[in-house]
Amino acid sequence: MAVKLCLLGYGKMGKMIAALAPEFECTVVSIIDPNQKDCYHSITAEALQDAEVCIDFSHPSVILENMQKVLSYQKNMVVGTTGWFQYLEEIKQQVQLAGTGFLYGANFSIGMNIFKRLVAEATMAFDRFPEFDVYGWEMHHKQKADSPSGTAIELSKTILANSSTKKKALFEPAYPKIESEELHFASVRAGSFPGTHIVGFDSETETIELSHCVRSRSTFAYGALQAAKWIKDRKGFFNFEDMIADVLC
Ligand SMILES: NC(=O)c1ccc[n+]([C@@H]2O[C@H](COP(=O)([O-])OP(=O)(O)OC[C@H]3O[C@@H](n4cnc5c(N)ncnc54)[C@H](OP(=O)(O)O)[C@@H]3O)[C@@H](O)[C@H]2O)c1
Repeated sequence: MAVKLCLLGYGKMGKMIAALAPEFECTVVSIIDPNQKDCYHSITAEALQDAEVCIDFSHPSVILENMQKVLSYQKNMVVGTTGWFQYLEEIKQQVQLAGTGFLYGANFSIGMNIFKRLVAEATMAFDRFPEFDVYGWEMHHKQKADSPSGTAIELSKTILANSSTKKKALFEPAYPKIESEELHFASVRAGSFPGTHIVGFDSETETIELSHCVRSRSTFAYGALQAAKWIKDRKGFFNFEDMIADVLC
């Protein structure tokens, strides 16, 4: 099933998606980026006319406006740009009014999404054995702007939702002593490490660790292209986890 794409944002992710699109039988028919050569510089009817799905990897400061413009042209959309989730309900209503298909995700890695399901399962299983304590840590290269990572926050929500003991996550150093209802999720920033997230379960006699490591940003581009194919003929408001759940069932 071929999909005609418009890319919004032609930075690192936009370029990677353009390069990988043919592997997914996708064709990039237009690119919108305000400062790049040979691109449309704003969202217009002409820029979108041949596109079936728009994929946005632009910038948190413009994403709200981009989504509203694309919806006004009633085009299906995949959004990888983050930083707008406080407007989720508002956008959901606008998607329903527009009658289009819309899919967003904070992390388009297939592996991380399945990893989250494993973390939920493992937390539920170890929850029945109080001798095990759960913890997490993540490590990224020293250029990463934020700490903890958005994914660490998501993973701790998954753990808290499936643990009867842990009530809150601690992202700062735990001092003087961690309480049993506290989940410690630590962050390390150094060197060139690729994004790594680890969730562990520890007892006096054994340790189990689940680990996910991103070796290339192309994993996010693969996920976004799969999402574009999935949303092409759908209507409604979805996140990336909905797509994974649909593929798995
Ligand atoms: N969900 C995921 O799995 C995932 C994965 C990776 C990245 N991301 C997110 O995706 C976004 C883009 O990441 P990136 O690494 O590709 O960033 P990037 O290299 O900075 O690329 C963003 C591009 O969008 C352009 N842009 C700015 N305003 C725009 C507008 N109004 N319309 C269209 N394009 C516009 C920027 O132009 P200027 O440089 O001239 O401003 C830049 O060329 C970030 O928010 C990042 O956090 C999400």
